[in-house]
Amino acid sequence: MRGFRKRYYDLFSRFYDAFITLHSGDRGGALRDYLAQKVGLERGNVALDICTGTGSLLLSLRRYVEEEGLVIGVDFSRGMLRVAREKTEEFPNVLVVEADVSCLPFKGEVFDGATCSHAFYELKGDATGRCLQEVHRVLKREKGFFMMEHDIPSNPLVRLLFYGRILSMGSKKALEILRGEEGIFGKYFLKINRIKTETERSKIIICRKG
Ligand SMILES: C[S@@+](CC[C@H](N)C(=O)[O-])C[C@H]1O[C@@H](n2cnc3c(N)ncnc32)[C@H](O)[C@@H]1O
Repeated sequence: MRGFRKRYYDLFSRFYDAFITLHSGDRGGALRDYLAQKVGLERGNVALDICTGTGSLLLSLRRYVEEEGLVIGVDFSRGMLRVAREKTEEFPNVLVVEADVSCLPFKGEVFDGATCSHAFYELKGDATGRCLQEVHRVLKREKGFFMMEHDIPSNPLVRLLFYGRILSMGSKKALEILRGEEGIFGKYFLKINRIKTETERSKIIICRKG
C-alpha cells in the first residue's frame, strides 16, 4: 500500500503545485504562510516539516529561522522531493530528506518546531501513531507540532465529499477525527489546542510537549 502511495505521489508531483494553485486560488500559499507564522520560530532555530511534498511550506518556515537557522522537509516520495529541491536549491539552509515519517532519521530533541500541512490524515494504519511518537521524540522540550487540515465544511455538498474522504481512511480513524483530534494527539502530547484559520475552512491543531 505504501509502495502504491509513493508511486502515486511520484507521478502526481509533476502537476501537484499547479493543481493546488488551481484548486485553492492560491489560498494554499496564504494558509501555509499562516501556519508557519503560528509556529513561533526565531532566528537560528531548527524546524521540521513532515510530509513536506513539493516543499512549499519550507519556504515559509525559512523566513522565520533566517539564514542562521535550518529547515528540513521529510517525505517518502522521491518525485515530490525532486520538485521541493528545485524550489529550494538557492537556500543552503533548506534540506529535504527521503524517509517514512513513521521512522524519522534524526536524533532526539533537536527541533524547535514541527509542522504538517494537509497530509496527516493520509497516514495509514499504525503510521499515524508511530509518526506522532517520532515527532514527539525529535522535538525539544516545550516545543510544538503544528498540524493543519481541512475542517468539517459548512457547505452540505462539500461536507459530503469531506466525509467520503475521511471514511476512506478506515472507520476507526474516521471516528477519531470526527470526535476531535484530542483522542489521537492526546496519547502522545501533553497539551492540545485548536485554532481555525481566517477562512475557517482549515484548522490548526497544536500539540505541545510538556
Ligand atoms: C497531500 S500531500 C501534502 C504535501 C504538502 N504538505 C503540502 O502542503 O502541499 C501529502 C504528502 O505526504 C507524503 N506522505 C504520505 N505518507 C507518508 C509517509 N508515511 N512518510 C512520508 N511521506 C508521506 C506524500 O508523499 C505527499 O507528498
